[in-house]
Formats: sequence, structure tokens, C-alpha cells
Amino acid sequence: MRVAVISAEAVPYSKTGGLGDVAGALPKALRSVGVDAFLITPCYLQTKGEYLWHTAIDDLWVDWRGQRFRAKVFYSEANGSPTFLIDAPEYFHRDSIYGYREDYERFAFFNHAALELIRRLGAAPDVVHLNDWHCGFAAVEIAHLRFWESYWRNTRTFFSIHNLAYQGAFDAGELWKFGFSSDFERNAFAFNGHASALKAGLSASDLLSTVSNRYAFEIQTAQEGYGLDWLLRERADRLIGVTNGVDYDVWNPEKDSYLGAHYNAWNIEGKRECKRQLLEQFSLPVDLERPIFANITRLTAQKGIDLMMAVAGEILATGSYIVSLGSGEQKYEDFWQRLRDYAPNQVGVFRGYNEDLAHKIEAGADMFMMPSKFEPCGLNQMYSLRYGTIPIVRAVGGLDDTVQNFDAVSGTGNGFKFRDYSPDKFLEKIYEALFAYYDKDAWRKMQWNGMTVDNSWENAARKYVGLYRMITGK
Ligand code: ADP
Ligand code: GLC
Repeated sequence: MRVAVISAEAVPYSKTGGLGDVAGALPKALRSVGVDAFLITPCYLQTKGEYLWHTAIDDLWVDWRGQRFRAKVFYSEANGSPTFLIDAPEYFHRDSIYGYREDYERFAFFNHAALELIRRLGAAPDVVHLNDWHCGFAAVEIAHLRFWESYWRNTRTFFSIHNLAYQGAFDAGELWKFGFSSDFERNAFAFNGHASALKAGLSASDLLSTVSNRYAFEIQTAQEGYGLDWLLRERADRLIGVTNGVDYDVWNPEKDSYLGAHYNAWNIEGKRECKRQLLEQFSLPVDLERPIFANITRLTAQKGIDLMMAVAGEILATGSYIVSLGSGEQKYEDFWQRLRDYAPNQVGVFRGYNEDLAHKIEAGADMFMMPSKFEPCGLNQMYSLRYGTIPIVRAVGGLDDTVQNFDAVSGTGNGFKFRDYSPDKFLEKIYEALFAYYDKDAWRKMQWNGMTVDNSWENAARKYVGLYRMITGK
């Protein structure tokens, strides 16, 4: 089984969020269960030179917007699988990875170039595994090519939804420039009077998946369907939830190279040292008995920052610390800064993106807050579980699937979760968590339960293989 995974971001080459973690780890996981998987991703200005092992192709000619466009392709295995990075400076050498008016054109090009690259690499893949709106273009192109080029005849497309909120919308009048001119192609993109790359992927792919069972169900409802719930209901028999895994080579307190001390479920002593170092790093007074509430996120409404804003004062009133790492919307960045100014002895804030600090916070904190409005899967709660940091989450999407409420009587559960999007419900769970925190045995039991959960990629990889088999008949 030969599988090409295509993604707009992938660790360690690029990352803005969980998609990067997943796309970096998935091909390696697929290879470990016997799939001949390789990854295709752009080479950005942000991609470190040390990861570009050598030039694979110097002259990838791509017919693009009526011209012949020459791109370069680098090769690497820095993520543990063969990876091809498409280098087209005009499109990808920019100050940030996303956020440009013509993002749709940048990724339309990336998709078209990726298919050209696949042809150059030899045997056609059995499956092309596409991720999020950035890859919707390739789903349509392959569906079209299957009728015209024998090379693609037996290739099937698999589309994973990581976040339905990002749709890649643009003016449908642009489609012809990218070579999409047939009725079939235009219909695939058509959505509410414009073109949507996400809708194209959802309608043209042979099989759809999303990153948790719960989210697969939620996106078929009007509240969470972002206008596409009808299509997802129509294709419900082709939509399957596969919960993301954790790359325990990268996120593992036993050997995490970012940490000053190591620990595991059996011997958790090192976590105290990580906590001490974290407090020092934020120049906070070192009182190891007081709990640290943490948050690491893109600062967008999705992540429930409003709820954290509403309860921060109450958390501080209990004498606890709060530590936050994130960047995003101005009003949220301002809030964390104000909170830090208000209680400089209790609050640590880092505005920006910082991989090193993300690991140190996971290890040094006691509780991780993730009260998301919606959460397709969520990785930080799973990292928290492994690091003995108790997640307090809203029961939506993957958070609901991966966190179980702690029950002090039976000693079961690995965290705390609430259902209604309300500060009061969130606060209730925060107080419950605090109560458990001061009961050392209960806390240790809960940490044990979380740290011994197996969220490794192997389960997910096996499920994907089963689904690839289903569409290819192999
Ligand atoms: P999403 O993909 O919606 O952002 P996830 O929980 O799936 O949410 O994944 C977020 C990933 O991005 C995690 O690996 C998290 O550690 C990382 N991350 C988010 N914000 C930052 C930041 N400011 N600095 C470092 N890592 C971050
Ligand atoms: C998206 C989602 C997040 C998920 C990640 C990886 O960014 O917001 O919940 O974990 O993709 O699938």
C-alpha cells in the first residue's frame, strides 16, 4: 500500500498548531504498520535549513496559470518518514505561514505541484491522504484526472478534517485560472456564492475522516457544521472519526530533551523539579505547594479564552499560579498581559510561539485548562495526561473522548470536564480540581490514570490502514 500524505504544515518543518504535529507523525506511524507512506509539504521561510537533507528534484516543471513554473524539491527524513518539501519562494518564503489574502492561490499551487511531483516519483500511490482546506484542490483534480490519465486510475483520495471552521473561501471567478473549468469541478467548489476549497475536498474525496468520534458527530449538526452539515450528513456513511495519536518520541517526560528533569508514571519525583524550574523561568516566587494552572494555545475564540478571562480572578483568589503561552487575537493577548501586571507574583505570561516553553509548561504545571468552544481533537490535553498534568476541559469533540471525569470514590478518571459553555460550570470543575489537588493520594491516582493511558499513534495508524483498504479494495 503506497500512500502520499499531503499537508500544509508538518513538524519539524513547520507548525502553527496541531495539524503540524499530526502530519509530521502520521507518515512515520503508517510506515511502522507496513504502509509505504511519504509526506509532501511546502518548504517555508520558517523551515530550518538543517532539515533539508538534499535536493531531490531541481526542475519540477509545473503548468501554472498559463505558464511553466519551475520549483525545487528538497528531501528529508527528519520526521521519521521520507518527505518531499516543495520549494517555491514566490509562494512560501513569507513572514508567516498563513494569513495572506491569496492563501487560496498559494495552496492551489501547492496541490497542483504536489501531483506533478507524485508523477515524477514513479508508481502512482494507492491513496492520497489530504488534510484540511489547503488540500481540497487536489481532491478535485485527482477525481477529474482519473478519467483522463491512466496513471491516476486506481488512486483513491482520503480527506481528513482537522478543523471545519477554516474553509479556504475565495471568488469562484478565480477557479478557471487554476485549471478548474468543467461543471464537475466548479460544482465541487461551489458554496454560498463563492468557492470553498474545504467543500471541494469534502465533496470530491472518496472517504472522509475527522480527528475524533465526537467531532464526527458534532459537525453533522447545524450548530457545529459551519454551513456544511448537510453535506456531511449526506456523506455520513463515508465519514469516520479517528482520534489523533501522540508522538511519544517527542512528547514524553521520560526523555523529553527540553526538560531539566525526567520522570514517568512510576517515579514522578522529577516533575517537582520541572515545576521549580518553570516558576523560576517566569520569575515567580517558588512555592511548590501552590498549584500552577496552565494554558498553551493559539489565542482564538475557539479555545474558550473568554471562559478563562471570566474565571482568572477567582483562580488567583485561591492563591494559585497561572501560566499562559500563546499568541493570536489582540484582545486576548492584552488580557493575559493585564492579568500579569495585576498579579506579577502569581501570573507568568509568554506571548508568542515557543516550542521549548510548551514542553516545560506541560511538565511543570499541575493543571491544564482547555475550555474550548469546539475542539476537533486537541493534542494538549493528551500531552498533559502523559506529563501528569491534570486536564480541565469542556466536554466537546476530542476533549470529551479523551478526558474522563475523576471519581474520588472509585479512583477512576484522569481529569475534569464540564458541558455547558459557562464560567460557573468551568469554575465548579476548577474548585473540584483544587480540592483533589490538596488530597495527595487522590491526585497521585489521577496522575497515574492519565500517565498510563495509551494514546500512541499505532491505534490510529491501524485504523487508517483499514480505511485505506476499504477504498482501494486491497
Ligand atoms: P490546534 O491545532 O487547534 O491549535 P491542538 O491542541 O491540536 O490545537 O494543537 C496545538 C499544538 O500547538 C500543540 O502542540 C501546542 O503545544 C502547540 N502550540 C499552540 N500554541 C503554541 C505556542 N504559543 N507556542 C508553542 N506551541 C504552541
Ligand atoms: C485542528 C484542531 C485540533 C486538532 C488538530 C489536529 O487544528 O483545532 O483540535 O487536534 O487540528 O488534528
